[in-house]
Amino acid sequence: MRAYQVDSAEGIQAIKQIETETPTPKGKEILVKMKACSLNYRDTLITLGGYVRNDVRPIIPLSDGAGEVVRVGDEVTQFKAGDRVLGNFFQHWVDGNIDDKGLNSALGGAIDGVLADYFILQEDCTVKIPDHLSYSEAATLPCAATTAWHALVNVGSVKAGDTILLLGTGGVSIFGLQLAKAKGAKVIITSSSDEKLERAKALGADHTINYKTSPDWEKEVLKLTDGQGVDNVLEVGGAGTFEKSVASAKVNGTVSVIGILSGLENPTISLMTIFNLLRIQGIYVGSTEMLTQLTEFMTEQNLTPVIDKTFSFSDAQDAYEYMAGAKHFGKVVIEAE
Ligand SMILES: NC(=O)c1ccc[n+]([C@@H]2O[C@H](COP(=O)([O-])OP(=O)(O)OC[C@H]3O[C@@H](n4cnc5c(N)ncnc54)[C@H](OP(=O)(O)O)[C@@H]3O)[C@@H](O)[C@H]2O)c1
Repeated sequence: MRAYQVDSAEGIQAIKQIETETPTPKGKEILVKMKACSLNYRDTLITLGGYVRNDVRPIIPLSDGAGEVVRVGDEVTQFKAGDRVLGNFFQHWVDGNIDDKGLNSALGGAIDGVLADYFILQEDCTVKIPDHLSYSEAATLPCAATTAWHALVNVGSVKAGDTILLLGTGGVSIFGLQLAKAKGAKVIITSSSDEKLERAKALGADHTINYKTSPDWEKEVLKLTDGQGVDNVLEVGGAGTFEKSVASAKVNGTVSVIGILSGLENPTISLMTIFNLLRIQGIYVGSTEMLTQLTEFMTEQNLTPVIDKTFSFSDAQDAYEYMAGAKHFGKVVIEAE
C-alpha cells in the first residue's frame, strides 16, 4: 500500500511517500480502507519533533481517519466488511480515566496513523460514522471535535445560558462554536481576521473580537459579559493568551487548557486564579465514549463539520503547508484518490 512516513524532525519535508505492506488485522483489530483524513495543528508539530509524549519515528502520521472496513481480526464481533467507521484519537482509551497504555496509543504520534491507503483500528476504539456525515466530514471528528466536546460537555457541563469563549477560528474553536450553540450557550469568539469573524457570526457566534486590532481582548470579554466573565474558555493559545483567558473567566469558571498556538513559555500564575476560584483543567482529546457521545449529539442536532479545503492523497504535503499557513477556517481534509 501507499503511505506517508515522518522519518526525521525537519518539518514538512520530513513527510515522505513510501510503499509498505498492507497490515493484517489480528484478534480485535480492524483493517480500514482510508477514504479521508484530516489535519490538526499537532500534526505540524510532530513533523518538527519534540512533541513530548508521542514522538516516535519513523511513523505514519495523522490521527484522524475515516474509511470502510475491509477485513476484521478473528475476535471482532461489532464490525464487518463494508461498515463506515472512524477511529478514536487514542486507540486504547475506551472510557473513564486514561492510563499509561491509553496515553501511549495516540494515532500518528505514538503508533502508526491514518495517512495511508489502509490503517488498523482497535475494535473497542472504533465508532460507526453517523449516516448524515460523509467520510470527509467524519474524518474531522476524532481530535478537534472530541477535544471541544470533552472541554465543553464532560468538563464544563455546558448548558443553556452559559457563555463560552473561543480563541481563533481553527478546528477546535469552530467545533466549540457549533457544539456550544447547539447546547444553547452564548459564544464569544476571537480571530485575527474580520472576514473569519463574519463567517463565525453566520455560524451563530453572538459576539466577535479581532484580537489583532483589540490586543486587550480580555477587557472586551468582560464588557460583553457585564463585568462577569465567561463560564468556560477553550484555551488553545498557550503562552500568549493564557493570562488573558484567566482574566476572561468568571468566578467559579473554568479555563480548559488545550493548546499552544502562541508558544509554550511558562505563563505567570495570576492571583485571579485564586480569588475567582477558577478551575484550570488540562484537556487531552478524549475517550471513545466521548467520541461516541459526540457523534450521537451531532446526529440528533444534524450538525455537519466545517471543512475549509480538501486535498488529494498525493498532495498531502500541500495540505500540511496550507494548515501551517493558518488561512483556514475549521478543518483541512485529505481524501483518498
Ligand atoms: N489538548 C488537546 O487534546 C488538543 C486537541 C486539539 C488541538 N490541540 C491544540 O489546540 C490548538 C489548536 O488546534 P487546532 O487544530 O484547532 O489548530 P488550527 O486549526 O491550526 O488553528 C489555527 C488558528 O488558531 C488561531 N490562532 C493562532 N494563534 C492565535 C492566538 N495567538 N490567539 C488566538 N488564536 C490564535 C488562528 O485563528 P484566526 O486565523 O481566526 O486568527 C489560526 O488560524 C493547538 O495548539 C493544538 O496543538 C490540543
